[in-house]
Amino acid sequence: MKVLKVSDYASLSKKSATLIAAQIIRNPGSVLGLATGSTPEGVYAELIALNKQGLIDFAGVTTVNLDEYYGLPGEHPQSYDYFMRQKLFSHVNIAADCTHLPSGMATDAEKECRRYEQLIDRLGGIDLQLLGIGRNGHVGFNEPGKSFPPLTHLTDLTEDTLGANSRFFGPGEKVPTQAISMGIGTIMRARSVLLIASGPDKKWALDKTINGPVTPQVPASVLQYHPDVTVIYCD
Ligand code: PGA
Repeated sequence: MKVLKVSDYASLSKKSATLIAAQIIRNPGSVLGLATGSTPEGVYAELIALNKQGLIDFAGVTTVNLDEYYGLPGEHPQSYDYFMRQKLFSHVNIAADCTHLPSGMATDAEKECRRYEQLIDRLGGIDLQLLGIGRNGHVGFNEPGKSFPPLTHLTDLTEDTLGANSRFFGPGEKVPTQAISMGIGTIMRARSVLLIASGPDKKWALDKTINGPVTPQVPASVLQYHPDVTVIYCD
């Protein structure tokens, strides 16, 4: 695990975007695993800037996102589908049919999970997976538990995650309680992983991820077993 502490959020965003840009330049047909949340927003802004400067080309890139709320349509402003279009996809030259997320509106969630897993396989796997981390150590919606979920699955959100996410929903608006998420196995099969974290509320999870025992109680700790992980963080 390569761990890099940077001075502030702007450097975190720039450094992370540089690593993703390098991946795209090395392989213009890269499959990128992407994440939502507030942490990657700066990274996406930097990638948009690099694309506008003509330094990176998304024409051959395919993306697969980590997760999506179950029960939210893609047009809902809090859906991850909507987030990705707002924060990245609509600003760069990526083909709409090359951007993938689990469908939050699939009637048969299990079938949707299988479809998503098969899609990633068909794409040849993920070259670089970008990850945020929850303050409880979750990655994607793999919450602390008794085991590491191997595959994309439907999952209940924990109280902690519900609390953290409720800030994005209006008063009285129902916060989704379930999500479809790549599994820990799906994430571990990515050829490289870039985990980013910003702020003091991630300190505990980050410390356990880097230095703690590998345990499903801190899902991100499993990344210690991955051969190519870069962690970039700031206080
Ligand atoms: P955040 O979320 O970037 O909004 O802090 C990260 C996560 O919960 O995975």
